[in-house]
Amino acid sequence: MKKIAALALALSVLPAASFAADPSMCTGCHRAGSPTAPDLAGMPADQFTAAMNEYKSGARSNPTMKAMSMPLSDADIAGLAAHFSALGK
Ligand code: HEC
Repeated sequence: MKKIAALALALSVLPAASFAADPSMCTGCHRAGSPTAPDLAGMPADQFTAAMNEYKSGARSNPTMKAMSMPLSDADIAGLAAHFSALGK
């Protein structure tokens, strides 16, 4: 519960316009304690970016994450990487 509260707080204090892609479109699946997808909080930005680019290119095969990553620009991914890597610290 503490982790969820911290996540909600982190999301609410971030200025909405700091990046184009909204992390709330990810946290439906990637929330703390979710059985369906790994928790992204605290994932190092370089690993996050590499994973997103692998889903995009097909090097890492997952239909859901391919669909999620395709519309994202490099700047979107960088913003999301910064967001999620800073969570849970
Ligand atoms: C419909 C559910 C769903 C949504 C929405 C979703 N994901 Fe995922 N994501 C998954 C699943 C399932 C996996 C695990 C796939 C695998 O095994 O490779 C995953 C894996 C990942 C990974 C790799 C994690 C790791 O530990 O290697 C990253 C990074 C990621 N997602 C980022 C995102 C981002 C960013 C968004 C929003 C733009 C997003 N996801 C939206 C279901 C989702």
